[in-house]
Amino acid sequence: MKQLPRVLYLLAMNETKIQVAQVTRHGAPNVMEYKETTLDAPQSNELQVEIYYSGINFADILGRMGLYPTAPKPPYVPGFEISGKVIGIGDDSLSHWLGKSIMGLSRFNGYASATNISVDQVFEIDKSFLMHGAAIPVNYLTAYFMMITQCNLQKDEWVLIHGIGGGVGIAAIQIAQKLGAKIIGTASKGKHDRLKELGIEHLIDYRTEDFQSRSLDITDGKGVQVILDPLGGKALKKSYDSLSEFGRLVAYGFSQAAPGSTKNWLKILPEYLGMPKFDPMKLMMQNKGVFGFHLGMLKKRQDLVQETSQKLIDWLGDGTISPMVDTVFPLKDIQMAHQYIADRKNFGKVLLSSNK
Ligand SMILES: NC(=O)c1ccc[n+]([C@@H]2O[C@H](COP(=O)([O-])OP(=O)(O)OC[C@H]3O[C@@H](n4cnc5c(N)ncnc54)[C@H](OP(=O)(O)O)[C@@H]3O)[C@@H](O)[C@H]2O)c1
Repeated sequence: MKQLPRVLYLLAMNETKIQVAQVTRHGAPNVMEYKETTLDAPQSNELQVEIYYSGINFADILGRMGLYPTAPKPPYVPGFEISGKVIGIGDDSLSHWLGKSIMGLSRFNGYASATNISVDQVFEIDKSFLMHGAAIPVNYLTAYFMMITQCNLQKDEWVLIHGIGGGVGIAAIQIAQKLGAKIIGTASKGKHDRLKELGIEHLIDYRTEDFQSRSLDITDGKGVQVILDPLGGKALKKSYDSLSEFGRLVAYGFSQAAPGSTKNWLKILPEYLGMPKFDPMKLMMQNKGVFGFHLGMLKKRQDLVQETSQKLIDWLGDGTISPMVDTVFPLKDIQMAHQYIADRKNFGKVLLSSNK
């Protein structure tokens, strides 16, 4: 693309009209509103991106319900990950980005037709991966950091992946298969057939079966080496009790706090109070380890985010990973998209597209 002087970009980009889907107040999917607004020119370290696809994450659902502590107060535009084309720059030194296809970590404001995003959160991708790119950053960085960086999951070790039919779950399957680990997954019954097609033999319907006793049966009573737990609450204790010696547990969510589509303190409190407190002496006596993971709280290891994102882009290119996109909703149908996830209809990733 031909390079324009910065002043022309700023003139051209001032008062850019964009469409967004915002949380107007905490509540059910019908609190989401699609509207037109304006976008400022990018700051000096930012790129302006025309968004092709935005990934919906479970954290967005929790945020809408008022259960995500680091979300802004409504009204705000959610959205942690995007893909699209760079259409503007905040500084001449970024001119080589113009016209590039990218995926990026947006830290809110991703449910939009365009946004400004810090250049260190943006990764160039081939334009053929524009759709899959929006399904990579959150799910795959999360699965990679937990399984590889934290737990050092090894070939032939058992890994228990809760919510295995969701976005992080399917990312975790593909990375565990790459490592040669043995997989156990929990998912609603309706997802089991499709999971079997992905090669997952050991599936637990957590609504009707006890995942702890099933995991112990499957591992001949030894327990599981690595467990990824987005459930939190009382279930986290059961996960801990399902670990083998040298087992590693990662706590990375609290989906037990959100059994419905609105906040319900009567359901949240017992789960919160039932969450285990881990005692170092007990960990020592049992030869087990517990990690916590929160992608949004990673502040000082952007080097690892950069390095891992590049590795994931390489894996996308060579077919090691391939996000499963369940549905693409037009941005204007945001309420339907959130309801679809609340109804647990998605298998893999749900995306928004402002071009549909
Ligand atoms: N700490 C971090 O940095 C981080 C990053 C990404 C995600 N997470 C957490 O990881 C979990 C999975 O995220 P995701 O984006 O992969 O979610 P997703 O694609 O929506 O999948 C979540 C899965 O969890 C199950 N589930 C449990 N409770 C649910 C509920 N109340 N409503 C709908 N589905 C529910 C569903 O499986 P079944 O139908 O089989 O029950 C669903 O397939 C969430 O708890 C999220 O907060 C944490």
